[in-house]
Amino acid sequence: MEPPKPGQKSTAQTYEQDPRWTAVDRYALSHLHTPSAPYYAALEFAAHNAQQNGLPDIAVSPLQGQFLALQVRLLRAKHILEVGTLGGYSTIWLAGATGPDTRVTTVEVDERHARVARESIARAGLGDRVEVVVGAGADVLPRLRGEVAAGARPRFDFAFVDADKENNLLYVDEIVEMARVGACVIVDNVVRKGTVVDAELAETDPRVKGSRAVIEGAGKHPRLDATLMQIVGEKNYDGFLVCLVK
Ligand code: SAH
Ligand code: DHB
Ligand code: MG
Repeated sequence: MEPPKPGQKSTAQTYEQDPRWTAVDRYALSHLHTPSAPYYAALEFAAHNAQQNGLPDIAVSPLQGQFLALQVRLLRAKHILEVGTLGGYSTIWLAGATGPDTRVTTVEVDERHARVARESIARAGLGDRVEVVVGAGADVLPRLRGEVAAGARPRFDFAFVDADKENNLLYVDEIVEMARVGACVIVDNVVRKGTVVDAELAETDPRVKGSRAVIEGAGKHPRLDATLMQIVGEKNYDGFLVCLVK
């Protein structure tokens, strides 16, 4: 797809491909994520396996995955929740960030995505750290919250929300109830090439509505402090909402 001209709206799902963003990603990765890095081959395999199985090309970029892994390490997070597994690419970044006592629960509605993810996660040697739960986030998260409330499951230290954008705020509200104080919640794709501030799409596009709902909801939530990071890179102009549970 051609990059949009100034003033032109871009709402298609294909990535913007500004050559500067791609070049900077490649340059940074060549120094910051080299083949000797832990799980390097496993991440490459996961990306390849997703492509071979025809999964959509919408995983986080390598630099974004590396950012998530650094957050997990900074927090010393042990109990991690992900909503939206796809082929397990971000899951491998999260599960491989710290040691063998890390546990990742990742929720995926699509059986086929879950099967590809399990294969790539097992190939990474991370099968015993990761539970792929097949189901819709709106069904699974309340069940997990019940397990946490019953003491059957530890509170989460870190969560990555990257599934159906319409339910972003529902997911964050659920996560706050089952996270520890001091946990971090990151929501992907809240900028959407800047369309998050398009007045028309704010009324008509359910994903833009979902992004706006979670940004505005985080701002109002008594137990969240949050900021928004706009991100460009090899895949898109988009962004993370980064929340602290207090
Ligand atoms: N986090 C992944 C990318 C996730 S893409 C990565 O970066 O590697 C979004 C995923 O969310 C898709 O696999 C899609 O099937 C899943 N999804 C869509 N609706 C969902 C729902 N209601 N509940 C759980 N997962 C959902
Ligand atoms: C889409 C979903 C994502 O989670 C993402 O990072 C990029 C695109 C999508 O559904 O188009
Ligand atoms: Mg995403």
